[in-house]
Amino acid sequence: MWSTQRKVAPGDLVIVWLTRDLVQSLVVTPGTAFNSRYGDYPHSDLVGIPYGSKVASRTGKGFVHILRPTPELWTLALPHRTQILYLADIAFITSWLYIRPGSVVVEAGTGSGSFTHSIARTVGATGHVFSYEFHEARASKAAEEFARHGISDIVTLTHRNVCKTGFTVTDTADSVFLDLPAPWEAIEHAKTALRKDRLTRICCFSPCIEQVLRTVSALNDVGFTDITMYETLLRRHEVSHAPRLVQIGTVAEKIKQQERNREDKRERQIAASRARHHILEKREREDDNAGGVIDRDPDCHEPEVKKAKTSAPREDDTPALDVAMEIDEEVLGDQPPAAPKVADNAMSSLPSPTPAPAIQEVRGHTSFLTLACLLPTTT
Ligand SMILES: C[S@@+](CC[C@H](N)C(=O)[O-])C[C@H]1O[C@@H](n2cnc3c(N)ncnc32)[C@H](O)[C@@H]1O
Repeated sequence: MWSTQRKVAPGDLVIVWLTRDLVQSLVVTPGTAFNSRYGDYPHSDLVGIPYGSKVASRTGKGFVHILRPTPELWTLALPHRTQILYLADIAFITSWLYIRPGSVVVEAGTGSGSFTHSIARTVGATGHVFSYEFHEARASKAAEEFARHGISDIVTLTHRNVCKTGFTVTDTADSVFLDLPAPWEAIEHAKTALRKDRLTRICCFSPCIEQVLRTVSALNDVGFTDITMYETLLRRHEVSHAPRLVQIGTVAEKIKQQERNREDKRERQIAASRARHHILEKREREDDNAGGVIDRDPDCHEPEVKKAKTSAPREDDTPALDVAMEIDEEVLGDQPPAAPKVADNAMSSLPSPTPAPAIQEVRGHTSFLTLACLLPTTT
């Protein structure tokens, strides 16, 4: 399936990744060029570069990545001839139908081949995909692509109306996948195609609930069991980094430094106060000796005592919570209020949790998946 070489060669199908929303495919044909709004990329520039390379346009204004095709990238880049299945549904269906290396799968209709490419890779050379398409032009285009992508040994494509004439295999398939406007018309044929010596499964992909109801009736009528319905929705999550928690050692050092600063300040205030007392006492003695009256300076002693009281260091019985809050403000800066208290968090040296709230935006559903099992009738 596609090139397995490290470097791009002429004739390779490559995926051109322009942006997250703009992915295209091209067959490398030297002598031609790929054009984008940011400049031209001559195919000759791609020959010999390793897959995954970033390539600048000739004008130097833009760049693209040249990727090796995978079924996932092909689903994003393929030319749409019909509605297609995307990865979320493909992954769920593959898993529910137990499609794995060696499985034999029946699929209708082929459409643009998005689902077909994925399951062809999953079943591999030991399995097989029988794919059916009644639209002639779509069938021949899909056959061309399967040949070019190297999967025509794994996929047998048949041009036929499966609702009218059924499938080309009997008692063979491990699972059946129907992406048709009227899957209920093909249910009985699907039963014929499924093997009867082990449990097998079917999945029908329908956009409307009315189609689901008719399909469920048809499944019941021919003896399928465990009928369920699922809908695959994508849910995006916004992942952002929380600020790192502060190390407990840093906080302890900060507290010690604050205590040292307070003690220094207190000692300076006591020393200043003593010095003023000393001056006043000296003046009083001088006045007494001179027989005069003390002319107290109201702004000197009393206010200073008051000031010393209001700015006195916190006594030992200061509540621990106040200290913690002060530390929080000083050490944690503008961390969100929900951040755990550093003093309480014994695991603070671990990386902080990364919040990932779901974005309240759900992509509209593409289709309902009606699933059922067929129990074995032979051993
Ligand atoms: C929605 S597309 C399938 C898309 C495909 N699952 C994919 O991922 O690319 C449905 C296809 O079924 C084909 N189709 C519809 N009725 C059919 C029938 N009775 N027999 C065979 N093919 C049929 C249509 O021509 C169309 O190409």
